[in-house]
Amino acid sequence: MSKDLELVMNAAREAGKIVKKGYGNIKEISDKGEGKGIVTDVDKKSEEIIKNILNSSGYSFLGEEEGRTDNNSEYCWVIDPIDGTTNFSRGIPLFAISIALIKNDELLIGVILNPITDECFYAEKGKGAFLNGKKISVSDKNILKGNEVLLEGGYSDRDKDIYATVTKIFSKESYTRRFGTTALEICYVANGSAEAFLSSGDSLWDFAAGLILVKEAGGKVTDWKGKDWSNKSSFICATNGLVHNEVIEQIKDLQ
Ligand code: IPD
Ligand code: CA
Repeated sequence: MSKDLELVMNAAREAGKIVKKGYGNIKEISDKGEGKGIVTDVDKKSEEIIKNILNSSGYSFLGEEEGRTDNNSEYCWVIDPIDGTTNFSRGIPLFAISIALIKNDELLIGVILNPITDECFYAEKGKGAFLNGKKISVSDKNILKGNEVLLEGGYSDRDKDIYATVTKIFSKESYTRRFGTTALEICYVANGSAEAFLSSGDSLWDFAAGLILVKEAGGKVTDWKGKDWSNKSSFICATNGLVHNEVIEQIKDLQ
């Protein structure tokens, strides 16, 4: 395990303690406006802890709550201090701390921790993907029919329309699900619990860590046209690889 991975695992675990303690004990909650969802005092505290721990790396930061901190480094920690804040605030125990290390479009490290189940998913480029120390891999199912497709999306009218369209398309033959946490849902593709994940309009901090997990678990990540994902695109298609073309065939005109 590299020094950077050790550091970020520690940051996720320390933030996880605070998030677990804050679950059911939220002191402040507000709407961020402009369709950006809600934020609690615990999201802010979690981001602060993560940044304090990762600061020793000297890398830049992009955090959901505090935005960008440019430390004159092309390496950047992308932080979602709680992915699934609505679940967190409503007593649904499906949320995660999600942190990625990226260098431009290159995904280097991803760590996603569910502090309630204590499941820690992590991956480093070229070194495989793991859940609590055990190697994970995508499923070997090669058709969508009768299998799991996870769908998410942003809060704009356009993203809601796209979500409705893909739900209609995929629910005809597959089991479609929306759990309210993009980060964890992508992990469920990485560990073989689902075959595909799709979202439009989510932000880099929601999915960056998950994308490297899927790649390292043997899956495939592209935009909805089937092109290599670039960090400018919020159209995410992450699959076990085997069903990728079948998914893209049905969504390529929606992007
Ligand atoms: C949200 C979750 C949700 C997705 C939203 C995201 P947040 O992230 O990932 O699943 O549908 O678009 O904003 O706000 O809880 O970090
Ligand atoms: Ca968040």
